[in-house]
Amino acid sequence: MAEKDKICPRCEGSGWMLISEGGRTIAKRCSCFWEKQIQLLLEKAGIPKRYQNCTFKNFEVHNDSHKDALRISKQFVKNYPIQDVGLLFIGPCGVGKTHLAVAIIRELIEKKGVPCAFYDFRDLIRHIQSTYDPEADLTTSEVLEPVLMTPVVVLDELGAKRTTPWVEETIFYIINYRYNEKKLTIFTTNYLDKREEDKKSEFYKKGEDTLIDRIGVRLHSRIYEMCKIVELWGEDYRKIAKQAGYRF
Ligand SMILES: Nc1ncnc2c1ncn2[C@@H]1O[C@H](COP(=O)(O)OP(=O)(O)OP(=O)(O)O)[C@@H](O)[C@H]1O
Ligand SMILES: [Mg+2]
Ligand SMILES: [Zn+2]
Repeated sequence: MAEKDKICPRCEGSGWMLISEGGRTIAKRCSCFWEKQIQLLLEKAGIPKRYQNCTFKNFEVHNDSHKDALRISKQFVKNYPIQDVGLLFIGPCGVGKTHLAVAIIRELIEKKGVPCAFYDFRDLIRHIQSTYDPEADLTTSEVLEPVLMTPVVVLDELGAKRTTPWVEETIFYIINYRYNEKKLTIFTTNYLDKREEDKKSEFYKKGEDTLIDRIGVRLHSRIYEMCKIVELWGEDYRKIAKQAGYRF
């Protein structure tokens, strides 16, 4: 029998425990109930397999940007639910943007029981587009519902896919809805704002698009209003780790 299917010996599977308090018997939730809730939230969050083990603990600090990003990420979790802005992680490939975004939602689920969801931007767009097919399993609103309603959502790889005006409109709708409802969104992107003037531009390829080129002015200004900007820079961790013989 799998560990999760074993019947809890403390509450015999009811999820409740009867305890005496001040001469009275009261019912309290057994700890197994909360453990199950957290397990369900983790399953629902849709964290990709590759990132299942990303935590604050195993995020290594190699430069000031890592240090600041880790501090801001931990603060975000600590502040929740009074945290009032989301985060936009900006940086080149392999600096740990997705790692930190996942670590934040994992911590929110485990420590605070907050429903969170992870979406790769490209997969989300593809999924929304697939619902235009009348034979699709889910309707557009069924796909959009958790993206709109989940209290904390990660939208990974913002701008990774060039969008059509219609898709841009849908994405704007999602982001604007979350903004109006004061729901927190964490974005990651490879695209800088002002490539030329940026002091860390050595880490970016020359001639790459800016974030505005990729997502348009309207979306860009909205996101800047609803997020704190967290810039990460440094070498590609995937390359460093490969050279050191680590395996992901
Ligand atoms: N500072 C770090 N400490 C520990 N592991 C790291 C760090 N930075 C990156 N990694 C690991 O390296 C891999 C790549 O990192 P990640 O996917 O978070 O990069 P990214 O910035 O999101 O890159 P991309 O722009 O390509 O999406 C992951 O397995 C991640 O766990
Ligand atoms: Mg990433
Ligand atoms: Zn129990």
